[in-house]
Amino acid sequence: MIGKPVVLITGAGGEIGHGLIAHLADAGARPVITLDVNPLEPSLAKKVQREFTGSIMDKALLERMLSEFEVDTVYHLAASLSTRSEFTPVTAHQVNVEGTLNLLEFSQREAESHGRPVTFLYPSSIAAYGLPDLATKRQAGRVKEDDFNTPSTMYGCNKLYCEQLGRYYAKFYKQLAADPQSGRVDFRCVRFPGLISALTVPSGGTSDYAPEMIHAAAKGEGYACFVRPDTRIPFMAMPDGVEALLRLAAAPKAALTRTAYNLAAFNPSADEVRQEVVRAFPSAAITWQTDAKRQGIVDSWPEDVDDSAARRDWGFAPAYDFNKAFRDYLIPTIGSRYGK
Ligand code: SER
Repeated sequence: MIGKPVVLITGAGGEIGHGLIAHLADAGARPVITLDVNPLEPSLAKKVQREFTGSIMDKALLERMLSEFEVDTVYHLAASLSTRSEFTPVTAHQVNVEGTLNLLEFSQREAESHGRPVTFLYPSSIAAYGLPDLATKRQAGRVKEDDFNTPSTMYGCNKLYCEQLGRYYAKFYKQLAADPQSGRVDFRCVRFPGLISALTVPSGGTSDYAPEMIHAAAKGEGYACFVRPDTRIPFMAMPDGVEALLRLAAAPKAALTRTAYNLAAFNPSADEVRQEVVRAFPSAAITWQTDAKRQGIVDSWPEDVDDSAARRDWGFAPAYDFNKAFRDYLIPTIGSRYGK
């Protein structure tokens, strides 16, 4: 089947994968192959050329994909999120770090055998930051990429390290070999805020309180929010998240001055999210039941990030601010999920 270059999406059945597959399939330009531990929903499966069900840890499976397809772009979305990773840190490290290493090596091999670089898109996270306390968080305001790189979660450590691994493949891979092989993996990475999708709910993350609150209200269910009302971190509507990955993939390499780019859209407090939800769903029953441990994780994430490098280098600006995200995306779209 080697011939036309294809796009590979790992973790394709997850929240970002949903939007990304729809977008790439609608654009129609590039065939997509996917890898996920679970079978794709039929509506997604029919949009892709080939679906592989399996693990990013399965090197034999990656080998088979390598021999069957010419992959020139990888969106490596598979990961264990921040809350889940704290319960199984060793497994999280295996999936998030060794899994990413497997995909970087896969991309290196693809690029070597086809004689051109593989563009590798990697979603990092605000979890790569670790602010020591609330006073520092409030004082820090819009955090720049190279500040506070001291994550307190296994997931955050994994993301920060994989940013560096990607940079290594892009710039220094086998630098002492007679014929150095760096630059074959064109590694590009965004640090996502909490993502909010109208079509899917996250699982295993710590920014999940905002999407959970919205989806519970849309379903007519009550919700006990696990962080304090004054909790503030950055969020982004899923269409902007997908657009950011596509834009970064398409950016001219010469314009990129960094490996990892902050993205910003809006940063409401949990209570501001509640107010907006109640405006849209007046019968929403939202209460506060702080989980001190998960609160500690969210408190270590910045309340805002400086996205000026992404704006400058590849012209990214989100289409949705807080009000528009609710008015034009979440509220009109969320009904389709619950048939309301
Ligand atoms: N949304 C992710 C999480 O909560 C952070 O990237 O784990």
